[in-house]
This record gives sequence, C-alpha cells and structure tokens, in this order.
Amino acid sequence: MGWVAEAVVGQKWGKFTMNSKKDNQIRLHDFNPGRDRFLAEVLSGLRKAQKELPSKYFYDEQGSHLFERICTLDEYYIPRIEAAVMETYIEEMVELLGPRVLLIEYGSGNCTKTRILLDHLHQSAAYVPIDISRTQLLGVTKQLASDYPGLEVLPVCADYTSGFDLPVPRRPSDCAVVYFPGSTIGNFDPIPAKLFLEHVAGVCRPGGGLLIGVDLKKDPRVLHCAYNDSQGVTATFNLNLLERINRELNCDFRLDWFQHYAFYNPREGRIEMHLVSLRDQTVHLDNVAIPFVGGESIWTESSYKFNLDEFEQMAVAAGFKVEHAWTDNQQWFSVQYLINTGGTTL
Ligand code: AVI
Repeated sequence: MGWVAEAVVGQKWGKFTMNSKKDNQIRLHDFNPGRDRFLAEVLSGLRKAQKELPSKYFYDEQGSHLFERICTLDEYYIPRIEAAVMETYIEEMVELLGPRVLLIEYGSGNCTKTRILLDHLHQSAAYVPIDISRTQLLGVTKQLASDYPGLEVLPVCADYTSGFDLPVPRRPSDCAVVYFPGSTIGNFDPIPAKLFLEHVAGVCRPGGGLLIGVDLKKDPRVLHCAYNDSQGVTATFNLNLLERINRELNCDFRLDWFQHYAFYNPREGRIEMHLVSLRDQTVHLDNVAIPFVGGESIWTESSYKFNLDEFEQMAVAAGFKVEHAWTDNQQWFSVQYLINTGGTTL
C-alpha cells in the first residue's frame, strides 16, 4: 500500500490509492477501481430511466475469456482484418513511429496484435500495457517479458477511462506512442470519445502519436452477424455481466429471465447491445429493489462505426493530425496513425 495519486482523464479528476505489488519480478502498478466504485456505477446505471451498465465491466476473468472466444469467430471480423492490415503495412507503420518508442497500450487484453508491433519496432524503450483485468494482465506480462528479454514491460492495472499515473521507464525514449487497437474507441459515446482522444494527445505529447484501430461503416447485415454470432458466444459474454454482478455485488439477477439483444442503429452509426427483461421482475442489489417491466432493457454497450472523414474530424478536434490511415481492400477496418499537433498537453 502506498500513496494517493491524482490524475486527470478528459474533464474528470479522481483520487486513487496506488498499490505496487511484486509478482515474480513483475512490478504491477495497480489502480483497479475496486468493489465500491463498481457498486456505485452499477446502482447509478440501473436507476436511470433507460437502464444501463458500463461495458468496461464485461472484462472479469470469465468475460476476458469469452471476449477472446469472440475474437476467434468468423462472424466477428474485427481482429482478423485488423491483424491483416497490421501485417501488410507494419513496415510503413514502424517507419512513421520512429526509433526508441515508449509504447503504451490502452486495454492491452491478450496483446496478440501488439506482438506484430513489438516484433518490428526499432529499439523500443519500454512497453506499458494497461488493462482492467489484473489476472490477464499479469499472465500476458510474464509471457512478454520472457519472449522479449530486452524489453522493459511495466504493467498498469487500471480503468483507463479514469485516473492513473504512468510508470517511468528506466531507458530514455524519443517519443511516446499510444496503441489503441480493436476499435475500442467505438465503445465511447461521441463526447467521451473526443475527451479520451484529448487525454491521449496529452499523454503522447507533441512529437508522439496514437496508433489506433477504427472500425468502419459497412453493410448492416455484416455488423448484425458480428454481434449476434451463431454459437451464442456474444450472448454469453453479454449475460456474464449479470453473473459478475451477482457474484461480486451480492445481487440476484436470474440470467434465464434476460436475453441478449444487439442491433445496428443506422441513424447513430452504432451497434447497441442490450439485455432485455423477459418478464416483470424485481432484482435486489445491496438492499435496493430494482423493478423491471417485461420488455424493458439494460443497455450494456455501444459500438460506434465511422467513416474515415467522420473519424478525422473528431481526431482533429482533439488535437491530432491523421498522418496515415491504412485499410483493407473492402474498407471494413482502418488502422490510423495520428500525431499530436502540439495543441494539447496534460
Ligand atoms: C472491445 N470492443 C471493441 C468490442 C466491440 O466490438 O465493440 C466489444 C464487443 N462486444 C461484443 N462483441 C465484441
């Protein structure tokens, strides 16, 4: 147990107690949000007229495994196409990033695509994976430290939409590059997305940049299948959020009384994922009774899809210039390198 760190993301200030733990030589910088905040956010979401739950809470151990399974499904095209774009253009990407890069990854997950980068980067200074799932983060860090012996790996367990301090690497770097793959930017609503990009511009500072995966608008039928897979893995992933709340917050959701429902909303340009109550029912959470009428939903996730122009407008408004956008032949997905133009710093 150590000290209290103050940090800023977007417009929000937060205070967090920081733990540094030793785990087989891995120094974990731990800003995990903890049970109280989880409970407060769940309660506040379930008290809204349109009930909602933050999608960041999908990723407990079970949820992270389920998401890995989603990423292997044919229907969920994102990881496959993003990896192909990375592999095709990796030389151009590392050329733009330059030497002695301090690589910071927001939502590092299982780091599959990061390896493509790490294999090609010229003398990277250090790698800072940031993830909310502590178990996965520690596992992946151990593996990377053994696969890349010369690389300093500095894991941070944090909800990157809140506050945390970045660890300082031993070796100096020429620039900081934030890596944010998988189109996770699409899981933010437009205003928080712009605030998040502003925060990242502050982290990478002028001269640094953001390498980001951005999912593009396409045939709604393709999108529909991606979030309604035939094996029902996405449905299990969605319902696991209720199972997690039951387990960690002593709640009594009946999973068989809720159903996964995902659809593309063309007006808003987003997939909406919901859990629909199959009947009138009351759920109890921390002595609070939460009534549901049949057909009412809990909105669990939005996944925005962009045109290249739309995304560029948001990036520019946040203080970036789109240096390059690489896409696949069908223009289903893009990997973009944005550079900080010097307008915003933390
Ligand atoms: C992590 N994120 C980019 C995924 C997405 O496509 O929005 C999460 C996901 N939800 C359902 N399937 C995948």
